[in-house]
Amino acid sequence: MKLILLGPPGAGKGTQAKRLQERYGIVQISTGDMLRAEVAAGSPIGKEAKAVMEAGKLVSDDTLVRMLASRLDQPDAANGFILDGFPRTLPQAQALDRMLAEKGLKLDAVVELKVDDEALVDRISGRFTCAKCGTGYHDTFKPTAKAGVCDICGATEFVRRADDNRETVGARLEAYHRQTAPIIPHYAATGVFHSVDGMADIDDVARELDAVLAGVGHGC
Ligand code: AP5
Ligand code: MG
Ligand code: ZN
Repeated sequence: MKLILLGPPGAGKGTQAKRLQERYGIVQISTGDMLRAEVAAGSPIGKEAKAVMEAGKLVSDDTLVRMLASRLDQPDAANGFILDGFPRTLPQAQALDRMLAEKGLKLDAVVELKVDDEALVDRISGRFTCAKCGTGYHDTFKPTAKAGVCDICGATEFVRRADDNRETVGARLEAYHRQTAPIIPHYAATGVFHSVDGMADIDDVARELDAVLAGVGHGC
């Protein structure tokens, strides 16, 4: 299964991608996570990306397309993948079309998570992640079972993203509406496009996604 999860910042792409990864045995490819790893490593890509990400803007298409192409060539992507955060511009969508065509692959589904802008700010400002295993949480919507302890690995250290503040969220939303939302018509024309109500509870969104994916044919 090869799919794209589309949606604004805080829509729940990462949350749902992690579940789908386990359910379908396919890999989550989050370009945001990949860029944050580059920033942490201080690599040339990380140096280019750091200030851009902190300003809530998009990193260059060129960098992202190269990064994704080499990620798709890795063996764990052969079984299928969930693209989380890519493509984000029309040139990225067109580059992905070319990459898949060269490999003789077709997307099974492109799913948009629809969420109102007002809900996104709350979701993003309450988000935190386990520093050890990367499990995502939310102060209100998905707290840890025991305060200050990761449900999955028991670690007690958590991190918040540098771009998760109210000012940057505004810029990220603007980038989404101006640069990313326009790719929806590109996919709507392909017949594999679906839209899911991302305002529902995490479990309900997961159920709706499962229903959509149960109905899609698995391409090659
Ligand atoms: P990226 O990391 O992709 O960030 P984003 O798109 O802004 O999306 P988020 O990760 O913030 O949100 P999400 O949809 O994953 O939500 P989550 O599941 O965590 O990109 C970061 C930056 O990198 C970009 O700004 C850009 O600079 C750069 N970049 C990345 N890709 C790029 C590209 N292709 N081209 C150019 N630049 C690129 O959920 C959010 C919170 O809400 C969590 O706390 C969660 O627990 C909670 N939550 C989730 N679902 C629900 C629900 N249904 N109800 C209540 N709470 C929920
Ligand atoms: Mg994410
Ligand atoms: Zn953990």
